Amino acid sequence: AYVVTENCIKCKYQDCVEVCPVDCFYEGENFLVINPDECIECGVCEPECPAEAIVPDSDPGAAEWVEIARQYAGQWPNITRKSDVPADAAEWKGKPGKKALLSS
Ligand code: F3S
Repeated sequence: AYVVTENCIKCKYQDCVEVCPVDCFYEGENFLVINPDECIECGVCEPECPAEAIVPDSDPGAAEWVEIARQYAGQWPNITRKSDVPADAAEWKGKPGKKALLSS
């Protein structure tokens, strides 16, 4: 499966949800997750993310994000259409240390 990682936090561009053929994204306040059990590994979302937040779950460091995705995919609502992007998304793009800012 593919997994959303730290770069998404507070950026939340949502270009990923527009291309997902199985609608497996779930929306939190400032982050999205992919349900790892629903992802078909097509890979179309990966290049769509302007923040380069989406990686294969085999990437180094991806495991902790898969655990986060499993936790929240069962709690957050499904998202299939892009809506408003945070006004300060560009300021947060690529910033390190955002994990602590993830809103549950
Ligand atoms: Fe997040 Fe990138 Fe999607 S910033 S909402 S993973 S397009």
